[in-house]
Amino acid sequence: MSARHVDTAQIETNQPEADALVLFGATGDLAKRKLFPSLYRLEKDGALHVPVIGVARSDWTDDDFRMHARESIEQHVDDVDGATIDALCERLDLVQGDYSDAATWNELSDLLDSHDSCVAVFYMAIPPSLFPMVAEKLQSVDLHTRGRIVVEKPFGRDYASAVELNETLHSVFAEDHIFRIDHYLGKEAVEDLLVFRFANTLIEPVWNRNYVRSVQVTMAETIGVEGRGSFYDSVGAIRDVLQNHLLQVVSLLAMEPPAGADAGFLQDEKAKVIAAMRPIDCTAMVRGQYVGYRDEPGVEEDSDVETFVAARLEIDSWRWAGVPWYVRVGKGLAESATEAVVELREPPRMLFDEAGGPPPGRNLIRLRLGKNDGVTFVLQAKTPGPQMDSEDIDVDVDFAAAFGERQDAYQRLLGDALRGSLRRFARQDVVEGTWRVVQPALDDPGPVLPYFRETWGPAEADSILVNNDTWYPPSKPAS
Ligand code: NDP
Ligand code: BG6
Repeated sequence: MSARHVDTAQIETNQPEADALVLFGATGDLAKRKLFPSLYRLEKDGALHVPVIGVARSDWTDDDFRMHARESIEQHVDDVDGATIDALCERLDLVQGDYSDAATWNELSDLLDSHDSCVAVFYMAIPPSLFPMVAEKLQSVDLHTRGRIVVEKPFGRDYASAVELNETLHSVFAEDHIFRIDHYLGKEAVEDLLVFRFANTLIEPVWNRNYVRSVQVTMAETIGVEGRGSFYDSVGAIRDVLQNHLLQVVSLLAMEPPAGADAGFLQDEKAKVIAAMRPIDCTAMVRGQYVGYRDEPGVEEDSDVETFVAARLEIDSWRWAGVPWYVRVGKGLAESATEAVVELREPPRMLFDEAGGPPPGRNLIRLRLGKNDGVTFVLQAKTPGPQMDSEDIDVDVDFAAAFGERQDAYQRLLGDALRGSLRRFARQDVVEGTWRVVQPALDDPGPVLPYFRETWGPAEADSILVNNDTWYPPSKPAS
């Protein structure tokens, strides 16, 4: 399975500002929890200037829709400002109808005409099975020439379906008009990986197999499937987060520096490092399922879908050959944290042999990418006393303390889609490449092992570690 070609020369990265936002799936869960709160924040920042048109089946009036948006915002945003909600509600209209019904599309087209819209953002907050139909219906009323689409994850179920979906979408939209959303790419701390690596002369020279012993990336959640049992049971942890969020983070940690500031160069480097990644070796992978998962509403009683997966990855490049990359993701775990730990090689022990004490520990660089984002360097310092012994000390930065409150990922990405900036979206070849990496795990998943909630998953996850490595529990920022 080789990487499919993407004609990067065809991809312009910046496009005209949008003059309307169309939300397919406006009555759904994602809109409620993430999109309306983000629209509210854009409105509050003075960054929303367009009409927002919801499209959904529910038999609601415009006023019902505005009330729903208001309640969603009040539920998910602290200290809401009434005038900002009023201003946002002024922008909202609903086209009520089924996507299979031609009348829905005519009404949408007329409404966009009434707003003199030429460049709309069509946001697909809908079940993935509807993506092709909605793209084709947009084409049927010629709206595909008047905008770009934002496509939610999961983008396909495996390599073949991702290729097929890309082909369907490409039959309607050019690649530069397809914004594939992965909200991890909108997180400031995830984007900071590039700045951290390439703007710090201290870091870049050691960021390779000569100095790095191993890298591990953990995405742990204490929550279970939380009312999304039926969706989750058709997906599992590999498709839900490993193929997308986790591998995007790995690509930012592992890629070479982009050749320039243009977003296409960044995508090129991601595509290259994903291409250098070996498909998952199923003997170096452990799947788990938390005890009680099968009792969740919507989950099959004999389900063998994983809620945890740990795998050892290999990146066959000059920079990384021989360095193990461990990834683990799971629900129902002991803590909620997303963290990358880069473990450097140990120094020679000559100086420290004098009294037969323990050798210095290894330096760690811990990059916190979830809540409490920041970075901790675990360094060695002399233990007070007569001996030349050393011990771990943490040099820690908490980004919230350093920078204050930053924008939420969905707010940033919605703003990008409206502005027409592709930088923080996923390109076709990168998405297909990540499916190529996980495909063996889908074809030959092996058994799913039980684990209790509030643990770190099945103990068998240790079996994928080599060189006496250990899993590091996520760090806490210094208080
Ligand atoms: P929901 O099932 O909650 O919402 C689906 C939406 O699609 C509803 O507004 C529904 O309208 C509309 N819809 C479905 N079928 C039709 C149809 N035939 N005609 C018209 N409208 C239709 O889904 P989510 O909001 O949870 O997910 C949406 C997308 O976002 C999915 O791709 C999902 O994978 C992705 N996503 C979701 C996340 C989440 O936390 N929810 C997180 C990350 C991604 P109505 O209800 O009025 O019938
Ligand atoms: C979503 C997954 O994409 O990411 C969820 O579908 C997961 O299962 C969520 O809980 C985690 O996002 P975050 O931003 O809370 O780490």
